[in-house]
Amino acid sequence: MCKEVLVDVKHLSHHFHLTKKAVIRAVDDVSFQIFEGEIFGLVGESGSGKSTVARCLMNVYEPQAGTIRYHGINICNKKEFQKNRKMLQTRRQIIFQDSTSSLNQRMKVADIISEPMKIHHMTPPRGSCREEAKFQMKYVGLDESFLDRYPSELSGGQRQRVAIARALSMEPEFLVADEPIASLDVSIQAQVVNLFRHLQQEHGFTFLFIAHDLAMVEYLCDRVGVMYHGRLVELAPSKELFSNPLHGYTKMLLSAIPIPDPIRERKRKLLLYDESDFGEGALREVSPGHFVLQPEKGGHSDGEA
Ligand SMILES: Nc1ncnc2c1ncn2[C@@H]1O[C@H](COP(=O)(O)OP(=O)(O)OP(=O)(O)O)[C@@H](O)[C@H]1O
Ligand SMILES: [Mg+2]
Repeated sequence: MCKEVLVDVKHLSHHFHLTKKAVIRAVDDVSFQIFEGEIFGLVGESGSGKSTVARCLMNVYEPQAGTIRYHGINICNKKEFQKNRKMLQTRRQIIFQDSTSSLNQRMKVADIISEPMKIHHMTPPRGSCREEAKFQMKYVGLDESFLDRYPSELSGGQRQRVAIARALSMEPEFLVADEPIASLDVSIQAQVVNLFRHLQQEHGFTFLFIAHDLAMVEYLCDRVGVMYHGRLVELAPSKELFSNPLHGYTKMLLSAIPIPDPIRERKRKLLLYDESDFGEGALREVSPGHFVLQPEKGGHSDGEA
């Protein structure tokens, strides 16, 4: 089956220059592709570069090197970006970890949800902005009695649903969720992840899901990329990655997932990853669709999976 590529990231690097000498290589030569209609997960420890990748994909940061193509359009090229600005700003949406800071506290829920449509002068498909907000709220499981409330009057889970409803009001074809469940209670996390799964199945949008919780990623994602120190160290279909991790860092990460069965949990061994093993290299395809960062030996793979 031939899958259409929606997002094509090639040799992406983004460094933060703190002083003349101090540089953080937040994202370093990262290549991957996201196919239309799939849920792509990005995992890795704090500071590994996940949000920086997401921000580059959304044109929040201008990367220092590499290219990002969206529907074949090089969005890192200013001219190409400007030419397609409206399409790019409406079709791509992002949801952040902490909806408390991403929602305007002085606006009512109805206005927060319909604001992007107003900004982009879109005609609300259901007649009025208020009707549209009502529809989206119902869709994400929020009672319409919240329409005239302020974010401070809502719980964390409800606020996150408002953020999701706001993003969905634009009917995006590409949704980036940067740790959308990390600030929620465990019970609410499962609800929100199920909501994402349901919405994605119904809408069929392409979804980049960034998370710390590996169990959630395994449950939700079709393919997963693992980041470590700004590099993509492994990329594989979810089932393959979780059953057959190959990079030392992925092995360590997966060994830390608690097992619900108490007998197996007692026998679970936490693997360690020696940071000194980490060095330069390139992604290589070791089995169909399974890429691992390996030391360079002449050839070079772009990680086009
Ligand atoms: N605006 C910035 N200025 C300077 N350094 C930054 C900036 N944003 C991120 N960094 C640094 O870049 C690296 C990658 O950060 P990033 O936020 O992408 O990581 P992350 O994987 O999203 O982490 P987390 O899981 O904690 O959200 C980190 O070392 C971080 O300190
Ligand atoms: Mg982050």
